[in-house]
Amino acid sequence: MEGSDHAMNLEQTVAAHYAHGSLEQAILEALAAAGRDVNRLSAADLAPVDEFHVGGRPATIAFAQQFGVRRGMRLLDVGCGLGGAARYFAQEHGCRVDAIDLSDEYVAVANMLAARVGLGDLVFCQQGSALALPFAERSFDAAYLLHVGMNIEDKFGLFAEIRRVLLPSGTLGIYDVMRVNSGELSYPVPWARGPEASFVADAASYRRLLESAGFEVLQERDRRDFALATLEKMRARGASARPAPLGLHIVMGDDAGAKVANMSNDIQRGLIAPTEIICRAVP
Ligand SMILES: C[S@@+](CC[C@H](N)C(=O)[O-])C[C@H]1O[C@@H](n2cnc3c(N)ncnc32)[C@H](O)[C@@H]1O
Repeated sequence: MEGSDHAMNLEQTVAAHYAHGSLEQAILEALAAAGRDVNRLSAADLAPVDEFHVGGRPATIAFAQQFGVRRGMRLLDVGCGLGGAARYFAQEHGCRVDAIDLSDEYVAVANMLAARVGLGDLVFCQQGSALALPFAERSFDAAYLLHVGMNIEDKFGLFAEIRRVLLPSGTLGIYDVMRVNSGELSYPVPWARGPEASFVADAASYRRLLESAGFEVLQERDRRDFALATLEKMRARGASARPAPLGLHIVMGDDAGAKVANMSNDIQRGLIAPTEIICRAVP
């Protein structure tokens, strides 16, 4: 009981961290300010704002190549945020994507954006917890989580729950910020205001917990250099006299600069690095 209260409190803290209040309006205004016609949007128009992980759309494309996506696959996006990656897999690879996220607001925006770009019949987002997925056993060919594990303390529970809903031999792809060396992290970071909602673990712990939950790890790739190059470009754009109207600062709020700078410094210092792990459910 105490354990489940703790997990519920953590989920409330995490959802509160990501709450914006008027995100739909803010995104549509920024799209208009960036010269887009909000009544004729494409999934690519949204990419600067709807991919909430280091490297945005280029990171998702690189991840999709590792992940071995195939046309028509039935995918699960765990912790979908605004659904940018789900729309990418639907649009570019013809996948049907079910997606869940703790945040009601993100789910509403994700569904609104899917409808606006004509993907409402391929992408379905709903509010839910990664630790209690609202799907039957063996529902998906593959699942992925992009920058979500940092918010989840019970990673064994997470992986076991994903294993439950995957078909035998189904793929799980992870792209998370992972621990590389010990040392205090600086806060806030994009995924948490402070350490109470941040559970950055090293790749060895991910591998161990994945294996205990019934996965075979196939590949691991450190994305540190890619991350540093991307974050430097982001910093330069933000520091320019006319920063782009459309960007993740809309989603991250007033302290977006501090969140990104803290994460970038800790990547630079060798404490953390975005890392991909691809694994397969052992039949
Ligand atoms: C940094 S954002 C990444 C969003 C998205 N995957 C992307 O890459 O654009 C992390 C997301 O994970 C969601 N999340 C965190 N913990 C979760 C949980 N236990 N269950 C479901 N979603 C969760 C948050 O609500 C947030 O939308």
